[in-house]
Amino acid sequence: MAKQEDIFKNVVSHAKEYGFIFPSSEVYDGLSAVYDYAQNGVELKKNIREYWWKSMVQMNENIVGLDAAILMHPTTWKASGHVDAFNDPLIDNKDSKKRYRADVLVEDYAEKLNQKAQKEIEKAKVRFGDAFNEEEFITTNARVVEYLAKKKEILARLAKGMSEDLQDVKALIEELEIADPETGSKNWTDVKQFNLMFGTKLGASAESAMDLYLRPETAQGIFVNFLNVQKSGRMKVPFGIAQTGKAFRNEIVARQFIFRMREFEQMEMQFFVRPGEEMQWYHHWKEARLKWHLSLGLGKDNYRFHDHEKLAHYANAAADIEFNFPFGFKELEGIHSRTDFDLKAHEQYSGRKLQYFDPELNENYVPYVVETSVGLDRMFLAVFATSLQEEVLEDGSTRTVLKLPAVLAPTKAAVLPLVKKDGLPEVAKKIIEDLKWDFNVAYDEKDAVGRRYRRADALGTPFCITVDHQTLEDQTVTIRHRDTMKQDRVAIGDLKSIIENEVSMKNWLMKM
Ligand code: GAP
Repeated sequence: MAKQEDIFKNVVSHAKEYGFIFPSSEVYDGLSAVYDYAQNGVELKKNIREYWWKSMVQMNENIVGLDAAILMHPTTWKASGHVDAFNDPLIDNKDSKKRYRADVLVEDYAEKLNQKAQKEIEKAKVRFGDAFNEEEFITTNARVVEYLAKKKEILARLAKGMSEDLQDVKALIEELEIADPETGSKNWTDVKQFNLMFGTKLGASAESAMDLYLRPETAQGIFVNFLNVQKSGRMKVPFGIAQTGKAFRNEIVARQFIFRMREFEQMEMQFFVRPGEEMQWYHHWKEARLKWHLSLGLGKDNYRFHDHEKLAHYANAAADIEFNFPFGFKELEGIHSRTDFDLKAHEQYSGRKLQYFDPELNENYVPYVVETSVGLDRMFLAVFATSLQEEVLEDGSTRTVLKLPAVLAPTKAAVLPLVKKDGLPEVAKKIIEDLKWDFNVAYDEKDAVGRRYRRADALGTPFCITVDHQTLEDQTVTIRHRDTMKQDRVAIGDLKSIIENEVSMKNWLMKM
């Protein structure tokens, strides 16, 4: 089995074993692509949300928050284009009866060509050493040129087929001899469009019930409230409205754990700007969002931008921040310059004006919008998977440690009495009583202290505080640091400031 797959399996099983994530309704064998956040997962998720909220809302005086309802008037989704265009192209395999996204089958094929080219480049790097010129090699090596040209040609044909001719997407799958990844069969149906919104009903009787949708993005709740917030908050363009909350998509292929779920959470911000100033703000938010990600210290090389060549109907620029997940670089966040498409569409469908009077220009206009949209669950996966490490220690033994950024760790400190007698548990509990006002802390007295350290490491707890017999004499404890395993003897009275220094959001966000 490939190493990447091993790592990913480890992530999923660690998340379950240590109370971070469980499959939804597991007693009934789970529900595909729906997950529950357990006692530690819910804390980590909350901390990521707060880290985003603080930097986005509290630190920007021209951005305010919103918590719009999940259920919205159904015309919202007509105006936004979701009823007509929020589709994925699906294809069924006639033999296996398995369903796939046609575009993903082709994209996976193209990615294999890319990987072949990368392999040639890596081999050449080793062969030529310092003399290697990668740019020249990519443009002159016959094999690499062929792989990359073929990849480009396939993706261009896919893009054209997706917008103009689904028959040609099927023809492409057949020409490339793409087989069902699970069974190898090449017996495919036609490609059909499939709307991703979940429908539901409002109202008691069948006659009067109204067809609704569960929102597929939180953004529309912001657009329809644009004027309410602007007027009641006396906001001046440029300003932003931020929101976190659940979104629902009936994904055709839901896999890769919490990467692609049917019920997930987004953290979105819509920034309203003067028409004509959107590109400057688009570049601003691209950089600002990357800086926010980098502040968590997961490694600069784990991020890259992917600028979209083919744009959605509402956008005049768009980019993804991709993250190096255990299964490769994939979208973590989207930054989109959405023009005035959404506000204009809501004006048209509602018959109400959604315009701003700009006192400096002395004119009314529909603002342009730059959006930042990151999946909270994807952030969780990025942080969790990168932090999970197996370390070989000096004595040859291994330890599993979850090196979460301390600011996000579910529990900031575990307080451990060395033994369960001689008054040590009482002192440990007194320490907990003091610290719990400021931090999420845990008490643990079960097993030998070494095993308790390992358990705290596996949960990502940055500090272990051990109470021993000396504590009774001089009011000092040992504090053990998760990442270095270094232990210091400190006064109980200093614990709060030591922990604060490493976990405070201020210190982490100052790195931006
Ligand atoms: N309002 C814009 C919007 O919704 P999107 O690219 O469709 O744009 C934004 O989604 C982010 O939401 C993605 O970058 C991803 O992090 C997250 N996301 C989208 N679909 C998801 C799914 N099925 N499961 C988990 N996260 C998802």
